[in-house]
Amino acid sequence: MPKQRILIIDDEMGSLEAFRQILKDDYEVLCAASAKEGLKIISEDNIQLVLLDIIMPEMDGMAALHRIREIDDTITVIMITATKSLKTAVEAMKLGAFDYISKPFELNEANLVVHKAMQSRALLQELEYLRGEFKQRYGLSNMVGKSKAMQKALSLMEKVAATKSTVLITGESGTGKELMARAIHFTSSRKDKPFVVVQCAAIPETLLESELFGHEKGAFTDATSRKLGKFELANGGSLFLDEIGEMSSGIQAKILRALEQQETTHVGGNKPINVDVRLIVATNRDLKKAVKEGTFRKDLYYRINVVPIPLAPLRERKEDIPLLVSYFLDKYSKEMQSKAKAIAPEALVALSAYSWPGNVRELENIIERVLTLANRETILVEDLPMDIRGSKAEPAPTASVGAEGGILNALGGETLSLSQAVERVEKDMITKALDKANWVLTKAAQDLGITRRVLKYKIDTLGIKGKESTEL
Ligand SMILES: Nc1ncnc2c1ncn2[C@@H]1O[C@H](COP(=O)(O)OP(=O)(O)OP(=O)(O)O)[C@@H](O)[C@H]1O
Ligand SMILES: [Mg+2]
Repeated sequence: MPKQRILIIDDEMGSLEAFRQILKDDYEVLCAASAKEGLKIISEDNIQLVLLDIIMPEMDGMAALHRIREIDDTITVIMITATKSLKTAVEAMKLGAFDYISKPFELNEANLVVHKAMQSRALLQELEYLRGEFKQRYGLSNMVGKSKAMQKALSLMEKVAATKSTVLITGESGTGKELMARAIHFTSSRKDKPFVVVQCAAIPETLLESELFGHEKGAFTDATSRKLGKFELANGGSLFLDEIGEMSSGIQAKILRALEQQETTHVGGNKPINVDVRLIVATNRDLKKAVKEGTFRKDLYYRINVVPIPLAPLRERKEDIPLLVSYFLDKYSKEMQSKAKAIAPEALVALSAYSWPGNVRELENIIERVLTLANRETILVEDLPMDIRGSKAEPAPTASVGAEGGILNALGGETLSLSQAVERVEKDMITKALDKANWVLTKAAQDLGITRRVLKYKIDTLGIKGKESTEL
């Protein structure tokens, strides 16, 4: 690894040389005897850290610090100060200098401050990287689906992300409720603030209150120290309450109060704490029914049901199956460096025919499992689990993929890649919709859950031919 680069700017030659000596073993060290010379190096060279003397003739350290911030505000700056300019050093830190070293300095001290600064730079960079990764992993683009139901949910999500409204995500297990909650947070203006998850059903009732609202030391037997609640931890960001149907009426009342008053109180405390939290809740229960049955508070239901986003079970949006298969195939074959990279049309048909009681999660798990066991490049029907292989439900919308026959193999010559297979399914669906709508594009587009413009584009790019319509 190349050494990191440090620039020392100091008008005293003795001081320059002393710093150079202590740092030259671990870093590449450049020296400048004036701010002007230093700034020139900074704008031309890739410098990670600057040691900057405060008292210099012409341009002093403070003015130079301003200029450095303008040129590149990722550079770490450490001020060098004579005791009498200590106050200025403090000022400099307010302006973003990392630390200061006072002259005359101890060798160890100077070394330590520089090392610490470099370490914290590395940490920050890692955090930045992880944030990017995380966003990518849970960002909007990761919600795959082009069915009408999914498109509707996604467009609702985009709209609601811009607001602070409470969102209620409903759907069977494995339909993507948590993924949707993350997508909302990471598309919202709160994306750089925390996204805090509470699995309500997983936490014993007695602990849930302290988990949500925090507690003071001694509030109950096990409360050996003060603890912050999830509402506080999510301050400025989003709080995701998963399985909200599974909590007592007492806690429901407290959540309602927190939402209405925008403040919470620690268990065993009496000081209200202001919280600014966007609440996203999810449940696989029918809350309306729970309200009727008296197990869920009506007032809380109305408070959280501001923007409902229902996620349809996979069996009701089978058009998403080929896309999801393609997505998971791509994801896991890369991750596991699996041999298999494609799927046979018959296998895709079988996957489409299956009813997926465990929804997208089940599909994801199956693809992962199949790839683990696969010892050929193309997944065949016989590689699928028995219950899926055997499912001969109603003809799936993807039936035409299989009808053409042939082995699907992304690497092969005359054979079909997954994207080609998906294209074929698409073509088939569009042709059917067009026939059904008598080639009235607006109507067909509506049925397909896409815009007329997209439909027109697809007709052109997929080379679909049929009756000419007055609309075309
Ligand atoms: N539309 C989608 N596109 C891509 N991946 C999806 C999609 N929907 C769900 N998944 C994946 O399926 C798995 C299950 O999703 P998630 O955990 O969000 O479901 P859930 O509705 O919260 O389930 P549960 O009710 O069991 O908690 C996750 O790995 C998720 O990434
Ligand atoms: Mg979940």
